[in-house]
Amino acid sequence: MGNTYHQDRGEVPPPPAGCPVHRDWSPLNADYLEEPYAIAGQLQADHPTFYSEKLGYVVVTEMEELDRIFTDHETFASTNVQDPMYKLCPEAQEVLSAPDFNPVAVMSNRPEPDHGRIRVHTRQGFSNKRIKTLEPYIRRRSDELIDTMVQARPPTEFVQAFAFPLPGETVFRFIGFPEGDDELLKGWCGDRKAFSWGLPTEEQQAEIAEQMLAYWRYCREFTADKRKNRGDDLASELITAHEQNPGAMTYQEVESVIYGLSFAGHEAVTALICNSLLCLLNHREQWDEVCADPLLIPNAVEEVLRYNSSQIAWRRVTTEDTQVGGFDVPAGTGIFLNFASAHRQDDIWDNPDEFDIHRPNANRHISFGKGVHFCLGAKFAKFETALMLEAVSRRLPSLRLVDQEFDYFPNITFRGPSRLHLTWD
Ligand code: HEM
Repeated sequence: MGNTYHQDRGEVPPPPAGCPVHRDWSPLNADYLEEPYAIAGQLQADHPTFYSEKLGYVVVTEMEELDRIFTDHETFASTNVQDPMYKLCPEAQEVLSAPDFNPVAVMSNRPEPDHGRIRVHTRQGFSNKRIKTLEPYIRRRSDELIDTMVQARPPTEFVQAFAFPLPGETVFRFIGFPEGDDELLKGWCGDRKAFSWGLPTEEQQAEIAEQMLAYWRYCREFTADKRKNRGDDLASELITAHEQNPGAMTYQEVESVIYGLSFAGHEAVTALICNSLLCLLNHREQWDEVCADPLLIPNAVEEVLRYNSSQIAWRRVTTEDTQVGGFDVPAGTGIFLNFASAHRQDDIWDNPDEFDIHRPNANRHISFGKGVHFCLGAKFAKFETALMLEAVSRRLPSLRLVDQEFDYFPNITFRGPSRLHLTWD
């Protein structure tokens, strides 16, 4: 399998000796998807480290242990982070066995030293200067989408009207995809979440696999075109870096970075903007403060990433026999890193169950991971979310939630409402 982008899940190891076993809990349980924090806190109080039988993973819930695992990338590899949670059905396997479906693990799921070699070049493309160049685009598109919402009159369904389209378009401009392809691209990226982090039906697996194949083919053609027509974008920069030193990053690695980024840079930001509105509109006085003083927005975004993050878990796998939470764990054990429990620890934050945009250490969260794989797009994500919130709070200060039930897409890590109904005066 080597550096295959999405590896099929192998045999699930039994629980490590002596490790408490939870037979019922899974992050895919309906009650946990709906409201994870109280349950996450109880799990931590019962057993800070335990084995989830439904997941087949050792679950770690305490910040200190999460920090240790994230920073020891040699013992705790990230090679499993893009892998499906289930065994792929034969139809999906057949689709992905197409001879030209050959993306390679490049960033989040590639071990050292190759990861570091590739990350150096990709990181250069995430310069502050390049991120800043997107500011006029994000401001203009935010205003256009709000204009359309206003013209259509309230109430609105905010995910479709704003939170889904804008982060996708922004990362597509960043990479250098042509504007005319946005709809196509958004369609292809849509269901990746179910493939790697959810439990799709066999029929859905095959459909998603078809989309991933089409999207990979598009990325390859796009990279070949870019090679002939460079622009001021990340893809052009990666191609130039490859040509200047082909040993430092292969052409296939360039194509694969482009393939991976469009999902990484899209989904969690859509959820983050929605979660930000949910937190702020449920704490009206803090929303009013933000409307009056946009300089409060950056710390408000940090607090949302702690209190109601768009990413509440991630994965690792042990490369050798080791210890986790004091238990002996064999090589090849999947580790489920539960941010939701750690983000409400009262030894780190005062009154952790309160949402407070003035919290001085709000940014101690681990929503972007830690160590060598620390999210490359963290600054980018916070910057674009802050710009979007600024536009919405400036244009629609009377915004409020409509009475509604929230639905969360079943997956182990990404969290944001599928629909968000809002109204204003
Ligand atoms: C709220 C939004 C986001 C969240 C919560 C988030 C979260 C994460 C997390 C948890 C990781 C894994 C870190 C680790 O293993 O230590 C990660 C990795 C990564 N993220 Fe993000 N991310 C977000 C937005 C973005 C954006 C906008 C981009 C790019 C445009 C991006 C690109 C990446 C890349 C390339 C990696 C892999 C880095 C590496 O392995 O070296 N992310 N992200």
